[in-house]
Amino acid sequence: MTTPAFTDALRTGITSIDAYHERLFILVDGLCLAAQDGAERARVGDFIDRLLTQTLSHFAEEEMEMQASAYPDLERHRRAHHAFADEVATVLREANDGRMIVLPEALDLARRLIGHVMVHDQPLAIHLRQTLPANA
Ligand SMILES: [Fe+2]
Repeated sequence: MTTPAFTDALRTGITSIDAYHERLFILVDGLCLAAQDGAERARVGDFIDRLLTQTLSHFAEEEMEMQASAYPDLERHRRAHHAFADEVATVLREANDGRMIVLPEALDLARRLIGHVMVHDQPLAIHLRQTLPANA
């Protein structure tokens, strides 16, 4: 099994965003490895819990940056955040209810995270570099 990794293609060039993304990918990697072994149900739940906490915190930071820079696509990006966070929260709830979270679901979260970075965060990073000189 190869877990989708945080590669250079995923770097946005915004240091604070990339640092957060790297942490999220480390958690997703841990989640995939734990989900691979069905015996580690508690560990899977712990990774999902941490992923949700870190994701919500990161999304809140990004949304503040979007607001501060008058990002024109803020609402669409925010909806994407809510959709992803809702999905992670649902998986966490089910894991806490005792459902076994299997590797394909963990990999799906990883793929969705990659999709979010490429579709939503890369354009945001371009905007931030143009509007906030400190990010250039
Ligand atoms: Fe985002």
